Amino acid sequence: MTANLPREAPARFEARVLPDLDSLAEEAAREFARAAKECLRDRALFRVALAGGSTPRVLHDRLVRKPYRSRIDWNRIRFFFGDERCVPPDHERSNYRMARETLFEPLRIPSDHVFRMRGEEEPHAAAAEYARTIASEFARSRSGVRFDLVFLGLGPDGHTASLFPGTKALGERNRPVAANYIPKFREWRLTLTYPAFNSARRMIFLAAGEEKREPASRILKRERGYRELPAARIRPRCGALLWLLDEEAGRDL
Ligand code: 6PG
Repeated sequence: MTANLPREAPARFEARVLPDLDSLAEEAAREFARAAKECLRDRALFRVALAGGSTPRVLHDRLVRKPYRSRIDWNRIRFFFGDERCVPPDHERSNYRMARETLFEPLRIPSDHVFRMRGEEEPHAAAAEYARTIASEFARSRSGVRFDLVFLGLGPDGHTASLFPGTKALGERNRPVAANYIPKFREWRLTLTYPAFNSARRMIFLAAGEEKREPASRILKRERGYRELPAARIRPRCGALLWLLDEEAGRDL
């Protein structure tokens, strides 16, 4: 089902509500394959920024199986991250570890095709280093730092990546990566910023479960104070934005 959205939504903007998590994963995998195919027709590489948290697991699990395993030209894909917890790469809370176990290892993705955020380092140094990594990876790209595809999750408080309500990185106007202190977790996180996200060619939100219902409805129906929710400010300047929700998360749409 395609949700009815306010007129002032971005030009290429859509929200689809799928019956369950499996069909959401299938839809996301199909979108990944389609975006990769379109991009690799004209460009040498397809650069994708992965989402953290738990929901992407179902997408990764879908991508490593038929038909996507053989249909996608994995060798021409470069993997980046939208955010990371400040933990070592083998820590159970590491977004890199989740992606390594559910995607890179099953597909035998070469390590030099993966650009992880170094959560084990001092956060500001790690953010600066990742900004340099991104700059050098996009150095030969005519359009500068512009991810071909970005996956994003949604938190119950309306956060996305590690852009949480009331935190400093929300105000970042220039740097593509920030170290962001999250008071409610008393921890630092590394996150791409709005300038990096909103320059992407294509962005896909994955939102599943009852606890995402309220923030999704507020943002997609522009209800009371929706702009305070960090995910509401994900608006591609000249790209496409797609929300994929399961029935629970999309119940009010
Ligand atoms: C993180 C994520 C975060 C996540 C949401 C949704 O590192 O935690 O990037 O933004 O996407 O919290 O998480 P779930 O998918 O686990 O519900």
